[in-house]
Amino acid sequence: MERTTVIAEAQLQAQKEICRQIKEYWQEKGIVPCAFVDTYGCQQNEADSERIRGMLQDCGYTMTDTEEGADCIVLNTCAIREHAEQRVFGNVGALVHTKRRHEGQKIFLCGCMMGQEHAAKKIKSSYTHVDGVFNPHHLWRFPELLQQVLLTGKRVFAVENEAGNIAEGIPVVRQNKLKAWVSIMYGCNNFCSYCIVPYVRGRERSRRPEEIIKEVRELIAQGYKDITLLGQNVNSYGKDLGLGIDFADLLDTLAQLEGDFWLRFMTSHPKDATKKLFDVMAKHPKIAKQFHLPFQSGNDRVLKEMNRRYTSGQYLELVNYGRSVMPGLILTSDVIVGFPGETDEEFEDTIRLIETVRYDALFTFIYSPRKGTPAAEMPDPATKQDKNRRFDKLVDTQNRISEQIHRSYIGTTVTVLADGREGDVLTSRTEGGRLVRFKGSDDLIGSFVKVRITDCTTWSLVGELAE
Ligand code: 5AD
Ligand code: SF4
Repeated sequence: MERTTVIAEAQLQAQKEICRQIKEYWQEKGIVPCAFVDTYGCQQNEADSERIRGMLQDCGYTMTDTEEGADCIVLNTCAIREHAEQRVFGNVGALVHTKRRHEGQKIFLCGCMMGQEHAAKKIKSSYTHVDGVFNPHHLWRFPELLQQVLLTGKRVFAVENEAGNIAEGIPVVRQNKLKAWVSIMYGCNNFCSYCIVPYVRGRERSRRPEEIIKEVRELIAQGYKDITLLGQNVNSYGKDLGLGIDFADLLDTLAQLEGDFWLRFMTSHPKDATKKLFDVMAKHPKIAKQFHLPFQSGNDRVLKEMNRRYTSGQYLELVNYGRSVMPGLILTSDVIVGFPGETDEEFEDTIRLIETVRYDALFTFIYSPRKGTPAAEMPDPATKQDKNRRFDKLVDTQNRISEQIHRSYIGTTVTVLADGREGDVLTSRTEGGRLVRFKGSDDLIGSFVKVRITDCTTWSLVGELAE
C-alpha cells in the first residue's frame, strides 16, 4: 500500500474543469440532466453523497429523488453487514429495467462495498448495465469517470486500493438546512476483528484543523445549528498531523466559535476516549451533552477476540467519569451479538453492562461475517436460533430501559432545536436526538427553544413552549 496523499490543488482544479465541460456537453444537447444519488449505511456515506451531489451539480445536473428517468444514478454502497450488501445487489439488479426505460441512463456504484475486490468483480462480470464503479479512494475523480462514460460509452472501474487520500474543496450539496456533517478525518487503523472498514477506507488521516475551522465557521454563518464532526474514530484525530493538536483541542477551538449552534461528534473508540475530552465537553454549553461510545460486547474475552483493546471495567470507568463531570450525559452505543464463539454466559455480560449503563438508545447488530476479516475465520458453533434468541433479549432489555428514560422526561423542561412542521405542531429534537412535538409558530423553526414535556408516545415526546 502507498502512503497517504493529499490530492493537489491542480488535480482538483482539473476535475472542476471537467465539470464545466460536462455542463457544456449537456447544454449543447439542450438538455437539463437530472441525477439520483441513493445512500446506504452510515453518516460518512451520507457526507460522501453530499459531495457526489456537489460534483453532479457542478456538471449541470439537477437532483431527483427517484431512479426513474434519471440521467445519472449513483448508488453509494455499504459493506458493514451482509444484509446491506444484499439490498444493494437487489436494487442494482432492478435497475436493468429502469435503464431500459430511459435511454442513455448512466449507472455508477461507489462506497465501501466497491472497496472489496470480490464485490467489484461481481458487478463487473454479472451486472453489465452498471457503467462505472469507484471505491472511496477515487471519489474526488468522479467527474473524470463520468466524462469517460459519457464520451466513450465504455465502462470504467476505479477500484485500485491505496492507503488513502484527502481532497479539500470538493463542492457539497447539503440535504438539510439545519444539520450538517463535517468529516474531520477518514479511514481507520483499529482493525477490530469483525470489521471491514479499515480494508475499504484505508488508514487514518486527519484534515488540517484550519480547513475544519473554516468549514464549520461557514456553516454557522449559513445558519446551520446542529453540526456533527465525523470520523470512524474521532479520538485519534490529529495523530498523523504531528501538530500537537488532538481531538479535544479541536473541539475546544470549535466550541468557542461565535454563534448559536450545537456541536456533536461520532464515533468514539473507548480505548482512545480521554478524560480531557469529557472535560472539554463539560466546559462548553455549545457541545451537545451526548456521547456515542460503542462497547460492542460486555464480556472481556469477547472484547479481546474482537481486538477492541479495552475491558468492560475500563469502559465503565470512562462512562462514570463522563457522568461525574456531566450528570445529564446522554449515552448511546453499538453492540454486536453472536460474535464467533460467544456463549450464552458471555452474552449475559453484555446484558449486565447495558443494565448498568442504561443507554438512551442502542444500535444492535447480529454479527455478520465479512470476507477478509480475522473473525470470519474463527470457529462459530452458536446456531442462528441461539443468536436470534440473544438478539431478542438484547432488544427487549434496551426497549424497557429506553421507555423508562423516555417517560422520565415528563415534567422536565428541555432545550430543543425546532426543525419543521407536521400539521398543527412543530417537530424538534433534544440535545440527545429525541423527537419532541409542540404547538408553536413557523418562525421558531431553526431556533433553540425551551419546551416543557407534558406527555409521550412510544417514539416521541409531547410538550408545550416554556417561554
Ligand atoms: N457484523 C455486525 N455488526 C458489525 N459492525 C461492524 N462490523 C460488523 C459486523 N461484521 C457494527 C459495529 C459498529 C457498527 C457501525 O456496526 O457495532 O460499531
Ligand atoms: Fe470498524 Fe473498529 Fe474501525 Fe469502528 S474502530 S470502523 S468498528 S475497525
